[in-house]
Amino acid sequence: MSSKTISTLLIEDNPGDRRLIREMLAEASSMTFDVRYADRLQAAVEYLSQNRVDVILLDLGLPDSQGLETLKKVYAQASELPIVVLTGLNDEMIGVQAVNEGAQDYLIKGQVDTHLLCRAVRYALERKQAEQRERRLQLQLNLSNRLASLGLMVEGIAHEINNPLTSVIGFAQMLAYDDIPESAREDARRISDNAQRVADIMKNLLTFARQQKLQRTYVNANDLVLAALEMRGQPIKDSNISVTTRLDSALPPTMADASLLQQAFLNLIVNAETEMKLAHGKGNLLIMTEQTSDMIQISFTDDGPGIAPANLVHLFDPFFSTRGVGQGAGLGLSVCYGIVTEHNGRIDVKSQLGQGSVFTVELPVVAE
Ligand SMILES: Nc1ncnc2c1ncn2[C@@H]1O[C@H](COP(=O)(O)OP(=O)(O)OP(=O)(O)O)[C@@H](O)[C@H]1O
Ligand SMILES: [Mg+2]
Repeated sequence: MSSKTISTLLIEDNPGDRRLIREMLAEASSMTFDVRYADRLQAAVEYLSQNRVDVILLDLGLPDSQGLETLKKVYAQASELPIVVLTGLNDEMIGVQAVNEGAQDYLIKGQVDTHLLCRAVRYALERKQAEQRERRLQLQLNLSNRLASLGLMVEGIAHEINNPLTSVIGFAQMLAYDDIPESAREDARRISDNAQRVADIMKNLLTFARQQKLQRTYVNANDLVLAALEMRGQPIKDSNISVTTRLDSALPPTMADASLLQQAFLNLIVNAETEMKLAHGKGNLLIMTEQTSDMIQISFTDDGPGIAPANLVHLFDPFFSTRGVGQGAGLGLSVCYGIVTEHNGRIDVKSQLGQGSVFTVELPVVAE
C-alpha cells in the first residue's frame, strides 16, 4: 500500500484545518497522498460522481450540511469508499455515531498528528476492503443457496414432465406415419416439433439442476475455448466483433466433460456477442486463460452494455432474460452455472452499466 499514491478527498470548509491536514499528509513518509478539496457537500458529491477516490476525510459541519446528515449524504454517493470523520473536541460522541452509520473511523481535530492520521487512513482502507470481501462472500453464499433450492424444484418438475412428454413426442411421430389425411399428418408433425422444443428446454433445465451425466476426461481449457470460438466464427464476424485471446500456453489440465464445458464457453461467447451487437453494432471480446493457485481461470471480457445491479442477482436464474419474446429463453447462463458447479468450479460476473462485463469461470486443476 505504501508505494501507491492514495487519492484523498478532504471535505473541509475551514481553511486553517485544511492547511493543517494537508501539511500532515505531506509529511507522511510511509504513504503518498494526492489530496483534493471540497468545501461544500454539493461540491464533494459532484467530485465523487466524476473522479476515482481511495479515501474520504470528512468534516461534518459544512456550510450546506451539518452533522450526521453530512455523512449520510456522502455515504449515499460513495458507500464503497472508506470515510474518516473529523470532529471537534467537544463532539466526540458524533464521531462514535458516525462510525455506527458507516464511517470507518473518526479523528478529533486538535488531537491529530501525522502518525495518527496515516494510521487511521491505513486501517480505514484495510477495514473497508475486508468488509467488501465479506459482503461479496455472503452474496455468493446467498446466491448458491438460492440456486440450489431452485435446482431442486426444477429437477422435480422436469422429471414429472419428461415422461408424459416422451409419450407425446413418440405418439405424434407414429401418427405422422399412419394412413391419415395429409393435413392431419402436418398437424402431427407440428405436435412432435413443438413437443421436441419443450424437451430441449427440459434438457437445459436438468443441466442447470446438475442432473447431466458427466463423461470426464483430461481436457485443456484452451482447446475448448478455441473450439467454441471456431463454432461461432461466422456470426462473430457478421456482428463486427473483434476477438482477442490470451491463452496461457502452460495451462494445466482439468478433468471435465469436454462437450459440456465447451457448451458453457459457447453460451458465454454468444451472450457477449449478442449484447455487444445489440448495444453498439460492434464490440471487442477478450478471452483469457491463466492459472491462479490451484485453479484454472477462464475470463470473458466484453465492452458491451454492462448489466444493471438489479439484474445481476437474477442472471443465473432459469428463464431470466432481458431479450424480447422469442429472442432468448434465459437458459444460457443457468446452463453455464449447472455445468461449472457440477465440475466443482465457480462462475462469477463483474459488470457495471455502460462499462461492459466480465464473466469468469474457475475450475480445479487436476494433475494427470
Ligand atoms: N455479456 C453480457 N453483457 C450484458 N448482459 C448479459 C451478458 N450476458 C448475459 N447478459 C444478460 O443476462 C441475461 C440472461 O442470459 P442467458 O444467457 O441466461 O439468457 P439469454 O441469453 O437471454 O437467453 P438464451 O441464452 O437462453 O438464449 C441476458 O438476457 C442478458 O440480459
Ligand atoms: Mg444466452
